[in-house]
Amino acid sequence: MKRIRSIKSMQRVVRELTIKKKRLSLVPTMGFLHEGHLSLIKRAKKNTDIVIVSIFVNPTQFAPNEDLKKYPHNMKGDLRKIKKAGGDIVFTPDAKEIYPEDFQTYVTVEDLTKTLEGKSRPGHFKGVTTIVSKLFNICHPDVVLFGMKDYQQAIVLKQMTKDLGYPIKFIIAPTVRERGGLAMSTRNSYFTDEQRKEALSLFYALETARNMVKAGKRKTAIIEREMKAVIKATCPSAKIEYIAFTDFNTLSSVKSIRKDTICSLAVRVHKVRLIDNMMLMQHKKLK
Ligand code: PAF
Repeated sequence: MKRIRSIKSMQRVVRELTIKKKRLSLVPTMGFLHEGHLSLIKRAKKNTDIVIVSIFVNPTQFAPNEDLKKYPHNMKGDLRKIKKAGGDIVFTPDAKEIYPEDFQTYVTVEDLTKTLEGKSRPGHFKGVTTIVSKLFNICHPDVVLFGMKDYQQAIVLKQMTKDLGYPIKFIIAPTVRERGGLAMSTRNSYFTDEQRKEALSLFYALETARNMVKAGKRKTAIIEREMKAVIKATCPSAKIEYIAFTDFNTLSSVKSIRKDTICSLAVRVHKVRLIDNMMLMQHKKLK
């Protein structure tokens, strides 16, 4: 496995691989990898000849009050995990390499970033779309993989890929959950064991929603009320930022559950901001 730090070297290696007609996949990450990331790498390995994993804690997607400074990292551990999962190249640029002093070009997706995470974290998606398009331009992947846990991010990036005409196959892979149901997330590492149990409240709320839909309930207001009660009961100190019921593709809000409704929520559990989501009526086939 090769580790590459500079854009120039990465572009040279990609050129050589393309001449050899190798198919490349890219798994963009911010490091401190967990099973969710590794499942993407393993899936990428099945789809393409060469798997590139990028590790870059992207400063432009963090607001000044967010956890950029304390974002966990473990490069040595990550390199070991990537190698074991089948990664071939790890791209680890530093901030100056990606954002030199005179950097001034950003990519934004308009409507899809106005709700949910985009509303709660202004500027966040501008940072995400900018770094990911830059990674696309550097790595020229044939296939890119993102996790469903950051579902809005995946939908926004899919739109960007289409709008900007990148010839890239876009895979959104299912959320990997810890035993008990907590969605894998780097930020889970901030929790003590006790707090981790309380963090399960998001999953319990989503399961409640899904069970209500199974039992024939359709009104989102009623389901939302029940979800709030579940969160309060299982994590009394939780602060709910939003619970939203939206169309899977357009992210427009719905009042009554339909086939393509996804429920997303953002909740602060002991100051750690967690997000999760679930399709309520069906397991949407993710491609
Ligand atoms: O999901 C993440 O880890 C990040 O948002 C991404 C896609 C690597 C961009 O920095």
